[in-house]
Amino acid sequence: MSRQHAPSRRSFLQTALAAGGVAAWPLLGCGPAAKAPTHAALGLDVSGANSLAAHAANANLLFGFAVDTAALRDNAAYRNTVKQQCSIVVAENAMKWSALRPAADKYSFADADALVAFTDENHIKLRGHTLCWHGGLPAWFDAAMTPDSARGQLLEHIRTVAGRYAGRMHSWDVVNEPILMADGRPDGLRTSPWLRLAGTDYIEAAFRAARDADPTALLTLNEFGVEGQNREDAEKRAALLLLLRRLKQRNVPIDAVGIQSHLRARTLYGYGAGLQSLLRSCNEMDLQVFLTELDVDDRDLSQNIDARDSGVAAQYASYLQTTLASPAVRAVLTWGVDDAHTWLNTAQPRGDKQPQRSLLFDERLRPTQAFAAVRDAFDARSSIPKH
Ligand code: G3I
Repeated sequence: MSRQHAPSRRSFLQTALAAGGVAAWPLLGCGPAAKAPTHAALGLDVSGANSLAAHAANANLLFGFAVDTAALRDNAAYRNTVKQQCSIVVAENAMKWSALRPAADKYSFADADALVAFTDENHIKLRGHTLCWHGGLPAWFDAAMTPDSARGQLLEHIRTVAGRYAGRMHSWDVVNEPILMADGRPDGLRTSPWLRLAGTDYIEAAFRAARDADPTALLTLNEFGVEGQNREDAEKRAALLLLLRRLKQRNVPIDAVGIQSHLRARTLYGYGAGLQSLLRSCNEMDLQVFLTELDVDDRDLSQNIDARDSGVAAQYASYLQTTLASPAVRAVLTWGVDDAHTWLNTAQPRGDKQPQRSLLFDERLRPTQAFAAVRDAFDARSSIPKH
């Protein structure tokens, strides 16, 4: 089992101090039967030196969110939270094939360009997500892509997109989620459309094309399901390490590993030694590590709001205590800014139909217990001299 920590003493104090401010929870997409829960706003000062970006910087880390470009454009409070908290951001969807490629022979850069302009203007670093993934593909993809055309199309996409933003990106998720043990290959590679159509060496080809197109972005391989102590995650970790070693041996230009970090508030096995060993191996291979899509699915927690909030915060605290001890970890990004904008509400809805409470800001953009837990975890790392 992982070391499941209660929120720090400071978090508890902050929660207790703010306990007067109980506010109603607006129902977000809930059915009529859903009962409105309440919770206490923490009332933390999160600005300036108290922001996550500032505390992360003290710990030699970047901090940020996956952003919804429409909310960033239309919602001033959302935009201000991003500006206040982030030293790095990533587009949740705006740089996927589905967003950039309305047709096989067309590119649509409006949202991606706007995000690049926003980050430039606000001196925030930008991760690109993602150049090559079996998901987030446009509707025309299946009918149009053939073994003759796929490799050329993939490399042309990488040259065009990474080339357009060359010199302005902190990093690119060049290949996303390339491993799937259930597909039964001895090397653990997912038999994705790219592998089937563009060739088994598509990963290597994609990284080489990305380096040519943007020599300064940190080229990243991003994966999920490698965090836990359970057998499935351990097998996937082993396949990931095998792949990374093979890429390094072949001098493929890879700089970093993204560990997505989609967590569950209550896990049977927890996060611990296996993940630490992966981080050590990455460090030995001179690969940086980014925690790229951190969030906590609270489906397994009861309806009580305080219990959910402290359960979610405890999982953030425990996970970050495990991972931030490694000097290889250089960036932490949550998959979304606030609880009104989390993919979990659609993809992993709670049985009681209440919205998930999985992020560091609630649906009104107020900092949650999880915010305090993450900030405390950054502080704990900054007190370790080697970081
Ligand atoms: O934009 C359309 C909108 O016009 C339409 O009205 C609506 C109706 O369903 O769909 C909207 O598009 C959806 C899009 O999210 C924006 O909300 C897509 O159907 C939906 O498939 C898409 O889901 C995204 C998913 O990746 C697939 O690309 C999620 O937002 C996004 O959070 C999720 O992110 C992934 C990472 O990229 C990789 N790791 C796992 C992570 C979570 O699944």
